[in-house]
Amino acid sequence: MQYGYFDDERREYVVTQPDTPLPWMNYLGTEDHFGMISNTAGGCSFYRDARLRRLTRYRHNGAPFDLGGRYLYLRDETDGDYWSPSWQPTRSLLDAYECRHGLSYTSISSQRGGVHAEVLYFVPPGETLEVWRLRVRNDRDTRADLSVFSLVEFCLWDALDDSTNFQRNYSVGEVEVVDGVIYHKTEYRERRNHFAYFACSEPLAGFDTQRDVFLGPNRGWESPLAVERGRCSDSIAHGWAPIGSHHIRLSLAASETRDVIFILGYSENPTDAKFDPPGSQTINKARVRPVIERWLATEDVERAFGALRGSWDELLSVLHVETPDPDTDRMVNIWNPYQCMATFNLSRSMSFYESGIGRGMGFRDSSQDILGFVGMVPARARQRILDLASTQLPSGGAYHQYQPLTKRGNDAIGSGFNDDPLWLVLAVSAYMKETGDIAVLDEIVPFDNSPGSEAPLFEHLRRCIRYTLDRLGPHGLPLIGRADWNDCLNLNCFSESSGESFQTTENREGGIAESLFIAAQFVLASNELAGVARLRGDGDEAASLEAAACRMVVAVEDHGWDGEWFLRAYDSLGGVVGSHLNAEGQIFAEPQGMSVMAGIGISNGKAAAALVSVRDRLATEHGIMLVQPPFTRYHLELGEITSYPPGYKENGGVFCQVNPWIMIAETILGDGEAAFDYYKRTNPSARAPISDVHRCEPYVYAQMIAGRDAATPGEAKNSWLTGSASWHLTAISQWILGVRPELGGLRIDPVLPPTWPGFTARRRWRGATYEIVVHQEPGVGGRVQRLVVDGTSVEGSLVCPAPEGSTVRIEATLERALPSC
Ligand code: GLC
Ligand code: GLC
Repeated sequence: MQYGYFDDERREYVVTQPDTPLPWMNYLGTEDHFGMISNTAGGCSFYRDARLRRLTRYRHNGAPFDLGGRYLYLRDETDGDYWSPSWQPTRSLLDAYECRHGLSYTSISSQRGGVHAEVLYFVPPGETLEVWRLRVRNDRDTRADLSVFSLVEFCLWDALDDSTNFQRNYSVGEVEVVDGVIYHKTEYRERRNHFAYFACSEPLAGFDTQRDVFLGPNRGWESPLAVERGRCSDSIAHGWAPIGSHHIRLSLAASETRDVIFILGYSENPTDAKFDPPGSQTINKARVRPVIERWLATEDVERAFGALRGSWDELLSVLHVETPDPDTDRMVNIWNPYQCMATFNLSRSMSFYESGIGRGMGFRDSSQDILGFVGMVPARARQRILDLASTQLPSGGAYHQYQPLTKRGNDAIGSGFNDDPLWLVLAVSAYMKETGDIAVLDEIVPFDNSPGSEAPLFEHLRRCIRYTLDRLGPHGLPLIGRADWNDCLNLNCFSESSGESFQTTENREGGIAESLFIAAQFVLASNELAGVARLRGDGDEAASLEAAACRMVVAVEDHGWDGEWFLRAYDSLGGVVGSHLNAEGQIFAEPQGMSVMAGIGISNGKAAAALVSVRDRLATEHGIMLVQPPFTRYHLELGEITSYPPGYKENGGVFCQVNPWIMIAETILGDGEAAFDYYKRTNPSARAPISDVHRCEPYVYAQMIAGRDAATPGEAKNSWLTGSASWHLTAISQWILGVRPELGGLRIDPVLPPTWPGFTARRRWRGATYEIVVHQEPGVGGRVQRLVVDGTSVEGSLVCPAPEGSTVRIEATLERALPSC
């Protein structure tokens, strides 16, 4: 069953009924001002930091699920009938409903009683405000006398404090209403110099800012008293819960259409110019007034919306493919890079599943969010890399996360996740492959943001590698620390008290528990850094990195092979994890994918055997599970992974981010059929027909799909903010379709399903455009042995960088390699 369809032409997903299985979300804003918006206008907005600068309230885990939003009410003045054009919060019957989630905008339209209303929501590029453009059309053959009520509920800025500290917060809320603009200014009199505003392009018939007055006693958002009786009370919030609601009247002739603009914005004043007149307690509006005036004008709104669409044309022009598979084209050309932008901007901070108050920017997560997508935002990716490196500790280790507003690392969920630093190496090498920007290595960056500790970025990367080498265990394998990529494999934690965090509670650093995942990641990262060192002309450094990688390969081969697959770890007592010797948790997906990606076991058949084991033991129709058999009881020595019921999350869910590693591994072994088969299993668009099982949005990846052992196999959770986005884009574009930036050139090395006749791609890379045509004789398969570049045949599969502004035509034919003698 489906709840909508893709409109690829307009790059929209069209939701055709409001009661989707879960709220289907979209994001507004791509720079500083962000919003999350559901298909029924639920969600909230914030400036930069979802926790510290939250503009409006959203109630996670409410009933109904999706509570708090950007709401409008329409009221027919003749009979008092009222409804919400976005269905929520009134949930009135609608004669028609449609939500179009587009790239950084959402438009929701509906029809009731001959009145058509469409609301378009977006953030104009470069601004710290969101526009709601309401377009009302009277489809009756008589005049329609209507009222419109807008509604937002203000958050008192710090979302954590806002949802916990009621004894204070019920007394501090403050607003100003001047010239029809509602200003939310809680704490502005004291230490804040920012405020929010909510304005409307039409003259007001009234307004409300005190929630209880607008709603009336004992009422909720679905039936506000003000709307029911058709008038506001001009209430001024003092404490309790400040809201913003405008009341306007519209009288529309038959067939007449009218636009009304609302803007919800964020503004700051310099500390010494907060008040006007100086010495008063009134907000100085000199800066914000022209902004408000400008954005209430329809022409500017239309122009900005055009600019927003144009900016996405530009971003998406980095890669465009045409393949025989519509689900692939749609994800690669539109939705997957779009999701990458959301993860790049928001890390794991604010979604339907992330409260925005718990997690900042993850060191590991943000490093990976750059992969596969850096071509769209090279300058911002560069800055992100430098920001991340500035939080690195002098030991080479990392805080697990940092706060976007302050860019400071924090210990809120600990540090000592021993995989963290290696991700920075992979991010930098991906950035350099994309841009060729070797100068970034010489950027001077502090450790832990401490003045005086500055060193070139390359030195930071060296320390990332050293960090692992300084922490090897009894088998010469990397110590795991608190956890590795799998946050829930806590081999040193031994938590026996409920409520303790598995990530931050006391860590028994016994110097025993080792991770095969980090071992493989280390091999990959060291070899990547060796390539970078060689590019800088530092052959000795490169050789020593490669030697370290080789030693690690030997350790993995000697101590990390279980017979049919790679082991997962050694626990703190030296026992094996992820072995046929274990009763539960015999095989884990991560070390299989990462080892093959690092090139381990390719020449001796271990890689191939590991992938057969994945296929036999972990693959399901919904994707590849993380571990089998799942843990059925709590294992003190393994930690959080065994706290989840079997089939969910890290305990045997289809952890989507790991699936692309297996896809990449399959391409490395040359099996395009297997790689693409796995790709289709997790592709959200391909899963749209089973939306009643999958339940999450069919246009973005989710972190997890419930595994075979769950009560609801195939049910996705934690959509949007997940490393699945950048890894899936990497797997499909760089490894299956095989258009892969390398330090020395653009590699064209597709590994396709054998039935495909080929595909075409257009890739912008280092300022030039590459028009690529790939042919394959169906049923034959093979790899690229030579290329025709601008009419000239060249050996191999690497295309040298072309001059900026040029267009290069590449023809590639997949062929079976001649057997070497
Ligand atoms: C979550 C985290 C990510 C981690 C993964 C596996 O997605 O954001 O950092 O690697 O879970 O535990
Ligand atoms: C929880 C989640 C895991 C996530 C981690 C972040 O353990 O289950 O997916 O990575 O929190 O700390």
